[in-house]
Amino acid sequence: MITRARYLSIRSGQSEKPKGEGYSLCVVATAISLIVGCTHAVEDQSQDPSPIEALATRDVPRNPLVDSRARGRQVYHHYCAVCHGAEGRGDGFNSSNLAVTPRDFTNPTFWDQTNDEHVLRAVGNGGAAIGKSVLMPAWGRTLTDVQIRDVIAFLHALAAPVESKSPDTDSPPASK
Ligand code: HEC
Repeated sequence: MITRARYLSIRSGQSEKPKGEGYSLCVVATAISLIVGCTHAVEDQSQDPSPIEALATRDVPRNPLVDSRARGRQVYHHYCAVCHGAEGRGDGFNSSNLAVTPRDFTNPTFWDQTNDEHVLRAVGNGGAAIGKSVLMPAWGRTLTDVQIRDVIAFLHALAAPVESKSPDTDSPPASK
């Protein structure tokens, strides 16, 4: 009787004994692998590669960073330039309405003193989240994670020309 009761409880998956659970899991795992195996066999008959294989063999961009900056430029001009300015100097047309001047991204000192994690938090959660002005909005609900990373890659690019031309942070780039 006891043996049969245990057998039934194992069959119905209600056994509290680890051995029983292990057995049930094993059966389920075997069943899944059989089903997956069969599905796969069916797929193999069609000529199309599986989505995973398609991803693995697809041509990927040669320079992901340049791509990211190019996308970031669009995000920036759409959402950020009104305050931070077309060239990132903190002089967008809306800046004169703000009690706090938007960050000048062309200033290398800012980049020397900050890091990507901080900037990520500033952009995603807004100025208040990093102890700065609430006039810097939070973008985490408007932009995707990828868009936020892209726009940050572009912010770095805004600083680069100034850095390469002169260490004097106050003088505008000569060619502009
Ligand atoms: C409504 C105006 C406004 C818009 C739009 C805006 N910002 Fe800002 N942003 C500010 C202001 C103001 C500050 C300065 C906050 C301070 O210094 O207290 C700031 C500061 C920042 C900072 C610097 C934080 C720090 O550590 O000093 C980053 C980075 C930033 N903004 C990124 C962005 C990005 C990226 C966008 C677009 C997705 C954007 N901002 C759009 C107003 C704006």
